[in-house]
Amino acid sequence: MLIPEKVVSAINEQIGYEFSASLQYYAIGAHFATEALPQLSAHFFKQAEEEKDHALRFIKYVVDAGGRVVIPAIEAPQSTFQAAEGAVQLSLDQEVKVTRQINALVELARTENDYITINFLQWFLAEQLEEVSSMDNLLKIVQRAGDDLLKADEYLARVGVRSMPQTPAE
Ligand SMILES: [Fe+2]
Ligand SMILES: [Fe+2]
Repeated sequence: MLIPEKVVSAINEQIGYEFSASLQYYAIGAHFATEALPQLSAHFFKQAEEEKDHALRFIKYVVDAGGRVVIPAIEAPQSTFQAAEGAVQLSLDQEVKVTRQINALVELARTENDYITINFLQWFLAEQLEEVSSMDNLLKIVQRAGDDLLKADEYLARVGVRSMPQTPAE
């Protein structure tokens, strides 16, 4: 096997966290769909698919490295929310938590001198920067809309979630 057993175990745990994040986003997407907020709903369904892709990326990596994939039990996500802001705050907290988990994986790979995994994890570090930033942006949009969530939904249709309109040219 190309990478240490300890790293494989930690990645298997991370696969669980990514699927768990995916389920949480499906639950939030369904909540917003029920509340007749189609853009917010679509945004979270898209995030759910992305988290599933993250899990698959880790699964493929373990297989490529010659390890064994063991998917852990996933807890039920939170499905009811008093307010939109609570659902988005939960999502932001989740992204910050996942960032800490990815940092911990890098730290483990570093102590194990596992440079292949350190290199593999670079993509996830960049992805977390993007996801924390865009979720923070969405939280501000929802907070600014206050009780009028249709405003937030319309804003998402017009502008979308972006920390900046576009990446500055090189
Ligand atoms: Fe993720
Ligand atoms: Fe994420």
